[in-house]
Amino acid sequence: MSEWFKVGKTTEFDPSIGRRVEVGEHRLAIFRIEDDFYAIGDRCSHAEASLAEGELFEFGVECPRHGSEFDVRTGVPGSLPATRPVVSYEVSVVDGDVMVSLVTEVEE
Ligand code: FES
Repeated sequence: MSEWFKVGKTTEFDPSIGRRVEVGEHRLAIFRIEDDFYAIGDRCSHAEASLAEGELFEFGVECPRHGSEFDVRTGVPGSLPATRPVVSYEVSVVDGDVMVSLVTEVEE
C-alpha cells in the first residue's frame, strides 16, 4: 500500500538544486526543474553518497562522490561506476504542497 506524504511547499525548493528530505525511514532527494518536481532515493546505489548534494545537468544529477549520473525522472544511472538504479517516487503538487507517494506496507 502506498501513501502520500507532504515534503514541503513548492516555494521552499530552489530550482535546479537538490534537497534531502526524510520521511520515516526513507531518505529522498527532491529536485525542482522549472515547475516540475522529481524524487529519487538519496543514497547512490554505488557507495551511498547523497544524490541531493549532486550537481544537476538537465534531468541528470551527478553523484558527488564518483560521478555517476542518475536520471531524476527514473533513478536510472547513465554512467559508471553505478550500475543499479535508485528508487524513483511519484510526486504530485497539491495546493502548493509537494507530495510524494511512498510504499508504507507490502501488499500480499
Ligand atoms: S558513490 Fe555515487 S558513483 Fe560512487
